Amino acid sequence: MSLPLFLVTLFISGSLGIPFRSGPKYQTDDYYTYEGIQEYLKGLAYTYSNRVKLTDIGKTYENRTLTTITISNGDRRTGKNVIFIDAGFHAREWLTHTAALNIIDQLVVNFKENQELLKDYDWVILPLVNADGYTYSRSGNVFINETITCNEPLTSDHQIKCWRKNRKPSAEDCIGTDLNRNFEYDWGKEGDINDPCYLAFKGISPFSEPESQAVKRVLLDLVKSGRGILYLTFHSAISLILYPWGSNGDKAENFKEHEEVAEAGIL
Ligand SMILES: *[C@@H]1O[C@H](CO)[C@@H](O)[C@H](O)[C@H]1NC(C)=O
Ligand SMILES: *[C@@H]1O[C@H](CO)[C@@H](O)[C@H](O)[C@H]1NC(C)=O
Ligand SMILES: [Zn+2]
Repeated sequence: MSLPLFLVTLFISGSLGIPFRSGPKYQTDDYYTYEGIQEYLKGLAYTYSNRVKLTDIGKTYENRTLTTITISNGDRRTGKNVIFIDAGFHAREWLTHTAALNIIDQLVVNFKENQELLKDYDWVILPLVNADGYTYSRSGNVFINETITCNEPLTSDHQIKCWRKNRKPSAEDCIGTDLNRNFEYDWGKEGDINDPCYLAFKGISPFSEPESQAVKRVLLDLVKSGRGILYLTFHSAISLILYPWGSNGDKAENFKEHEEVAEAGIL
């Protein structure tokens, strides 16, 4: 009895081209590559298709696909508030997408333990915004047990590791725009960053870069859906929770709310 059943199972799986696999395991022994992140997300969408949905939201300058993962608890309730997280705006801040992936792992794979967090919220996560810059920052020498401080002047090796911007040429002899300075609100207000060769170059115009455009589209779509949104963007340069406005230090209209959330966040 059991032999034919076994054969049938093999046949069906084979004919659909789906290999036998258990859910993907979150990798903790090394930083994921861009390809590794995409593979991991696809694995989650395949294994947990009732709770996970992937959306391609655009392409980087070097044509890498940017993908968000939407995580729900599978109850099909619409109109829940949304927590949107992105990470990896700055190429060298490798810890940020690792943190985003860890959150994804906790919400999807470790769902049972964390399901309270999905009861009234859907989560949309873009783990790696600056896929080109990150891939470039991995392309130099491997450093083991060496503390790298990304202060000028940098050695040529450290210049690769300490890369911050995207990889689209910004002038004839310079590459890259600082993606989180490429947004429209108070664009270019916080100092002299008009030099395309400088690591914090704001871009030739607001949203001149495909990566910042992609994040903008995701946010506008969420706004259009009429739900409450908490937007968190992960950086690892300093141990601070920052909330608006950064451009002039003014308090946002809902400053109290921001403060409350930030206070809760540092506990
Ligand atoms: C990205 O793809 C487009 C369309 O295939 C192509 O024209 C362009 O040269 C590619 N860009 C890079 C940087 O490879
Ligand atoms: C890095 O440093 C730690 C602590 O000093 C040591 O245990 C480890 O073997 C080192 N790793 C390599 C690859 O050198
Ligand atoms: Zn940063």
